[in-house]
Amino acid sequence: AILASSLMSVSVAASFKWDIEDDYTATWSRQQAENVALTEETTAPIIDLDFEDVAPDVWVWDTWPLQDRDGSLSIVKGYRIAFALVAPRTYTWHDRHTEARIGMFYSKNGKDWTYAGIPYDYDKALGHMQWAGSAMLDEQGKVHFFYTATTDMNADGGKEFNKHDWVRRAEQRLAKTTFDISADRNGVHLTNEADHQILLEADGEHYETIEQFQEHGNIITGFRDPFFFKDPNTGEEYIIWEGQAGTNRDYIKPENIGDAEYRETHNVPERAEFYNGNIGIAKVLDNDVTELEMLPPLLESVGVNHQLERPHVVVKGDTYYLLTISHEFTFAPGLTGPDGLYGFVGEGGLRTDYKPVNGTGLVVANPAEKPFQAYSWWAAPDGQVISFINEPLDENGQVQFGGTFAPTLKVSFDGDTTKIVKEMGAGEIKPFGPYGRSLR
Ligand code: FRU
Repeated sequence: AILASSLMSVSVAASFKWDIEDDYTATWSRQQAENVALTEETTAPIIDLDFEDVAPDVWVWDTWPLQDRDGSLSIVKGYRIAFALVAPRTYTWHDRHTEARIGMFYSKNGKDWTYAGIPYDYDKALGHMQWAGSAMLDEQGKVHFFYTATTDMNADGGKEFNKHDWVRRAEQRLAKTTFDISADRNGVHLTNEADHQILLEADGEHYETIEQFQEHGNIITGFRDPFFFKDPNTGEEYIIWEGQAGTNRDYIKPENIGDAEYRETHNVPERAEFYNGNIGIAKVLDNDVTELEMLPPLLESVGVNHQLERPHVVVKGDTYYLLTISHEFTFAPGLTGPDGLYGFVGEGGLRTDYKPVNGTGLVVANPAEKPFQAYSWWAAPDGQVISFINEPLDENGQVQFGGTFAPTLKVSFDGDTTKIVKEMGAGEIKPFGPYGRSLR
């Protein structure tokens, strides 16, 4: 019996190769990224151009539901609640990012959504604008409202030259406030808005600061999109976000290129090192999610892709899927891939040696003939994937502007493969359970 139990503890220890605090960052290498390709299992159906606008006066894009601490869909007096970035349609489609706020939606059936406006006082909110985040309803009925506080991208003419290129100066910090929530016949109400506070700022070591970006940056810096996640296997809580490499990993290392054989023949194109995306993580130290310990990134795409946006997690038993959205235009020179939901799978813990799912890394991609029809996919713990209609092409190849909820997709996760199994209604969200519950 002694032997058996010591063997067991060895095998358990062996499956947890990394502690969450370890300085181990998985890489998405150039070699792996060469395998990005559309497949039947991961290509979304074409979206009908006859779509309805869920909120006709505002552009609507990145969307996330209110979730309980364990990840389940929150249901408040029968209502499901979603938050989304919104901007008045008086701004052009492309200018919407510069005046983004977070709007609230609610629905009794998860299909017909009512737009309830911006639930906070934007004179109190931090940043010139508020970018994507997540929202958690705790056991006391407090809504923890996480977002990105972003500076004015139009300040000083909007663009500046940083030695290499014209870039956007938009400093981003992770912020939060809280609300009480109530619901009645007239809908859902967020009240008792707390002071807004900054949770985290880039440290320069693991995560690029705006000053470092000014030195060598590319396109736009990234320190945004806080996602609250309670690991069902450990009970520990985390905030995960989109970052870019700080000084200690901001150069191309052998593992960013590929294995020894690949490295012998592969030449890394010039400027690839300016594409330095990563997925950041901090451990939550208190019940109110205000004290955070910043940790080394979970994954990086240095030399591969500049942006790993809106990272989030799906868990199945001991298998972790780290999901993120990325764009065609943010791939480093010499590589390409579609706008899509990318996934990385690993075993035994949240910090693990993630590898691209399906061999390709793609979980959901737009069809080749409609390469920008949707974006900002977000997978719930049960594999329902929401997104927004972005820039679908019409019959004449003309770009249309979406700015509303896209049809939800259902994706199955099985070992190191995934598959789109169903298309649901526009913006549809069915009740879902906690992270770690088996996915059907
Ligand atoms: C993804 C994204 C997010 C950001 C928001 C800004 O669509 O780039 O990373 O929070 O849009 O509009």
